[in-house]
Amino acid sequence: MIYLNGEFMPLAEAMVPVMDRGFLFGDGVYEVIPVYSRRPFRLAEHLRRLENSLAGIRLANPLSAAAWAELIGRIIDLAADDDQQVYLQVTRGADAKRNHAFPQSVVPTVFVMSEPLLPPPAELRRQGVRAISAPDNRWLRCDIKSISLLANCLLRQTAVEAGCDETIMFRDGFLSEGTASNIFAVHDGVLLAPQKNHLMLPGITYDVVLELAAAHGLQHTVRDVLEEEVRQADELWMTSSTKEVLAIVSLDGSPVGSGKPGPLFADMYAWYQEFKRAIMRGK
Ligand code: PDD
Repeated sequence: MIYLNGEFMPLAEAMVPVMDRGFLFGDGVYEVIPVYSRRPFRLAEHLRRLENSLAGIRLANPLSAAAWAELIGRIIDLAADDDQQVYLQVTRGADAKRNHAFPQSVVPTVFVMSEPLLPPPAELRRQGVRAISAPDNRWLRCDIKSISLLANCLLRQTAVEAGCDETIMFRDGFLSEGTASNIFAVHDGVLLAPQKNHLMLPGITYDVVLELAAAHGLQHTVRDVLEEEVRQADELWMTSSTKEVLAIVSLDGSPVGSGKPGPLFADMYAWYQEFKRAIMRGK
């Protein structure tokens, strides 16, 4: 069952008008929230990021944090799996005419669904993933989790057609992020993370990785990361709510470090799994 504009219904019955601004303009924002053992992970942080995204597109939040929590709780209850990914989307709704400027009175479209959350396949974890690079040709508000993902889709498709899993984007000689992930580099035992700004999405998994680094005494620095530092990294990692943390073992066809997932990745992966068991699942 999914939720659409106040009602719960089967996915196949869910319809939005073709005049919805999400459909016409990509005028909306979204969140992806991982759920472990039926507990949404860092819900408050995801809802805060949603609030920032909505503020960024000047759309009033249609629900209070408490109402979001209740709605997401119901969607989780209605789904079969214990581990889920909850997708939610808010658009600026439908108007009678196609007009770039905002409609006079806005009734936002609110959509929430749950899909099973599967951990990345074991071979991806063991062997690592391959990436290509590309200039970051997105807009300058990549901190907004916008549903206008055409640039991300095109860049990801380029990776797929090159037999790779992700595209790492650079802007003006600096690392921004992946098409649907944040990117970390390891240099001489130090974890480098690009600092959050308008050029990347502030990832919730990114926060977890930095917290785990701090908790386990892994040296880490948050600052602008040069493209050269990514190309010469001993290890590269990608993170997201659905992929957890994965090692990137080749970039543009050249091996990253040894060409295998590195020793610090092995540590971080183990810390992340333990964190998932102890904190995310609350066991
Ligand atoms: N994407 N950067 C981009 C551009 C992303 O789309 C995502 C996540 C991230 C990682 O954020 P988090 O750790 O909070 O998931 C970074 C989601 C999973 C998606 O679009 O499906």
